[in-house]
Amino acid sequence: MRYLITGAAGMLGRDLQTVLADQSVTALDRAGLDITDPDAVHAAVAGHDVVINCAAYTAVDAAETDEDAAYAVNALGPRNLAAAAAAHGAKLIHISTDYVFAGNATEPYAEDTARAPLNAYGRTKAAGEEFVLGEHPTGGFIVRTAWIYGEHGNNFAATMLRLAGSHPTVSVVTDQVGQPTWTRDLATQLRLLAESDAPAGVYHGTNAGQGSWYDFTQAIFTEAGLDPARVLETDSASFVRPAPRPAYSVLSHAGWTAAGLPIMRDWREALHEAIASGAIHAPEPTA
Ligand SMILES: NC(=O)c1ccc[n+]([C@@H]2O[C@H](COP(=O)([O-])OP(=O)(O)OC[C@H]3O[C@@H](n4cnc5c(N)ncnc54)[C@H](OP(=O)(O)O)[C@@H]3O)[C@@H](O)[C@H]2O)c1
Repeated sequence: MRYLITGAAGMLGRDLQTVLADQSVTALDRAGLDITDPDAVHAAVAGHDVVINCAAYTAVDAAETDEDAAYAVNALGPRNLAAAAAAHGAKLIHISTDYVFAGNATEPYAEDTARAPLNAYGRTKAAGEEFVLGEHPTGGFIVRTAWIYGEHGNNFAATMLRLAGSHPTVSVVTDQVGQPTWTRDLATQLRLLAESDAPAGVYHGTNAGQGSWYDFTQAIFTEAGLDPARVLETDSASFVRPAPRPAYSVLSHAGWTAAGLPIMRDWREALHEAIASGAIHAPEPTA
């Protein structure tokens, strides 16, 4: 199988390269392929069986005042990739987000729930999904993920461990619930999907279980050998940000089961391995 990874220098793109290390992989960062350039995309996709798009405009708050730039990368980029993948007979696996939903559900979002994004980033990602499914109905795969953390990125888990090194306590919201997801697990699931006969369409690539950011932080502290009582409860009203966030981001995993594939393991198990393996670092002890 010949893979093309776009956005290969990002947090997920880096772990995907590790997981596909024994395969034939072309890994292109933004300098190697700008996905907003249709001709360059067409040329890059040629000769590959599977394209995995990890490129995105991911600055959620900045997108509120920069929606055109976000749309170019998150909507037109995937459209270019889907058109090229369809033309070259390749599968396209495109990464999307829980932010396509409003977060006002009370049970896990099914894959076919209508999109209702709350913010500009979510709107651009929703448009990207529609383009992929429209341009490449037989070989376009959307994998929605959420709350990802990994070795090669600025992410919530690393930030909490850094703060733990400099602050006696951290205050974290209890009123946003989701599925913390290790990029290594997601990359492994993407490979499974690429190698399977699963039908094109929408899948939810998050670790199983659910928890709030507060629960996640307590678990990070515990796994890193720090006192979880240093994590204090707060709510979203105390942390207002430019882009509204969904309160409930739990995604159903029924699509994997229907396609005969395993679901991803529980987020607490994944976090344990991520920290125990050193992929997510604890801070140096202070004297
Ligand atoms: N982070 C999360 O919690 C989260 C949650 C839900 C879904 N997701 C989705 O998961 C995917 C991977 O996220 P991530 O956290 O790994 O993102 P990331 O670390 O921000 O990586 C994205 C990469 O895309 C590159 N890029 C930006 N514009 C590009 C363009 N026009 N052409 C080619 N490459 C371009 C970026 O390069 P530069 O750095 O040079 O700009 C960056 O290397 C994205 O689709 C994201 O929307 C993430």
